[in-house]
Amino acid sequence: MPRKRDLIIKGFSKLLKEDKLKIVSELMDNQLEAIDLLKSFWYADPEKQKVFDEFSENTLTNFYIPYGVAPNVMVNGQTYVVPLVIEESSVVAAASASARFWSERGGFHAEVIDTVKEGQVHFLWKGNRNKLVSAFDDLKIRFRESTKLITANMEKRGGGILDFELLDLRKKIDNYYQIKVTFNTQDSMGANFINSCLEEFSKVLKEFFYFQPIFEDEEKEVNIIMSILSNYTPKCLVKAWVECDFEELDKIDKSMNGEEFAKKFETAVKIAEVDTYRATTHNKGIFNGIDAVAIATGNDFRAIEAAGHAYATRNGYYQSLSHVDLSEGKFKYSLELPLALGTVGGLTSLHPLAKHSLEMLGKPSAPELMMIIAAVGLANNFSAVRSLITKGIQVGHMKMHLMNILNHFKATEEEKEMAAAYFKEKTVSFALVDDYIKKLRHV
Ligand code: MEV
Repeated sequence: MPRKRDLIIKGFSKLLKEDKLKIVSELMDNQLEAIDLLKSFWYADPEKQKVFDEFSENTLTNFYIPYGVAPNVMVNGQTYVVPLVIEESSVVAAASASARFWSERGGFHAEVIDTVKEGQVHFLWKGNRNKLVSAFDDLKIRFRESTKLITANMEKRGGGILDFELLDLRKKIDNYYQIKVTFNTQDSMGANFINSCLEEFSKVLKEFFYFQPIFEDEEKEVNIIMSILSNYTPKCLVKAWVECDFEELDKIDKSMNGEEFAKKFETAVKIAEVDTYRATTHNKGIFNGIDAVAIATGNDFRAIEAAGHAYATRNGYYQSLSHVDLSEGKFKYSLELPLALGTVGGLTSLHPLAKHSLEMLGKPSAPELMMIIAAVGLANNFSAVRSLITKGIQVGHMKMHLMNILNHFKATEEEKEMAAAYFKEKTVSFALVDDYIKKLRHV
């Protein structure tokens, strides 16, 4: 009998993996089959499996997602084979088609605008603001002193703490101040480094108010609310763009010349600049590529998405992250977004495939990876908008999805070949494939 689903399980994380599997399998109709299925995705080598088990808690198995590559991604004259981890059928094909297209038109251009990351200590304090302002230089020295051991290695690599700023935010929340700290974390994403520094600063702050004689008794208490990096990284910014003469877009679609295509494309992107519903989908197409490379290289795609979407609202409402410029008879398409990435530390070295991906990309620095990833985001975005304003996305999308539908019906290789030929010029849908397979099998 399946276990009741509202049962609270105490101490689950401390159980042995086999026991966890057993408990979970009790939720399934066929327990033995369920355990076999989960185990079938384990690494054969227990040492390798242990690495994965230890990434997270309560690990039962591994969840596979396809790892593909987009060749011909030319960025600033250098060509990369870019790894993408994604389940959506058309993303790698779209990135590859766009990369190939632009490789014949000068490739992608990219520049890193800045690489600064930020963290905050948020606190409530009821004292005299002027005293805090005048003591802030002294406080900064103490902050730096307190983190000497943490920053030593980062400083050797050319990074470290950049600056501190005291923000008086009492108009927003009673007694609320913030210490905003900027960091350079070089090739590491730097989340642990930043958070460790911030937690030290909060200790220093507490002691400072308590022990400094300038503060009266009633000013000695500080309420540290939290110390944490900000995933909004508008100063860790990259720009990628493509450009060509209108004539070089002539052959994209039979029904329009290059200039007409460029103008229709511009209107499509303008719509994503003024309409939030379209902007969200438009940007989703950008993150199709960005997330896929971020995952393949062991980067935190949630942090990247959060920063990107926040950046998309910087003008007061949510807009497209990419923009078209048609001045001087040229089509110029650009994408600017924050990308806080790492190419050393964290999962980049622990996950064997993340390590592999970085090696395949020529062991890039974090700024180099920012440019590659921005180029892939733009590549996917270009492919999506190109399809939308010409043949629509369903033709390509459903062709790619055809194999998934055929797999659902457990089609044989022979059936797949026949179906691929049959649907070459036809609309693909689940119902039509179902119908076709039934006819083929004389059901
Ligand atoms: C699908 O994953 C992404 C698109 O919807 C993006 C877009 O509409 O621009 C095709």
